[in-house]
Amino acid sequence: MTVLGLARVWALVCSAGCVAAQTPEAVSLASPERGKALLLQRQDSGCVLCHQVQGLPAGGALGPSLVGLAERSTQDQARERIADARRFNPHTIMPAYLSTEGLNKVANPYKGQTILTAQGLEDILSYLFLPSKATP
Ligand code: HEC
Repeated sequence: MTVLGLARVWALVCSAGCVAAQTPEAVSLASPERGKALLLQRQDSGCVLCHQVQGLPAGGALGPSLVGLAERSTQDQARERIADARRFNPHTIMPAYLSTEGLNKVANPYKGQTILTAQGLEDILSYLFLPSKATP
């Protein structure tokens, strides 16, 4: 089976509800620059409202600082956490960025949509795990 074929099968299996339909293409094309822009968006991602991120202007303190993240988390763990933090803490205040399950009263234009795309999540990870950003 080709790599693309494998990615399709994975995407199909995942549409039943696992983390991102993460394809090798998405990973190889991940852009730290786009990730940085997403991290900074206060309206869409909101990451910096709650987190301090290495290399970005002062962030919020509702969540732990993400400086030094690579020392306590793998990229896979961070991906799962950002996709749906409720898997780790059912009462978390962190939004589930790649899940539409269990949401109530979602405004019509946003119904059925995740906050981030799988690509956006990979872009964010590529910034957070840049060797120069991941350690203090
Ligand atoms: C409303 C506040 C809030 C927002 C917005 C938020 N988070 Fe969080 N985040 C938290 C809290 C609180 C935790 C601590 C664990 C928990 O309570 O779920 C956390 C935990 C994490 C962790 C694990 C940190 C560690 O030390 O292992 C990562 C990674 C993370 N967030 C990334 C993100 C990213 C990336 C975004 C934006 C896409 C984001 N968060 C948006 C509140 C938030």
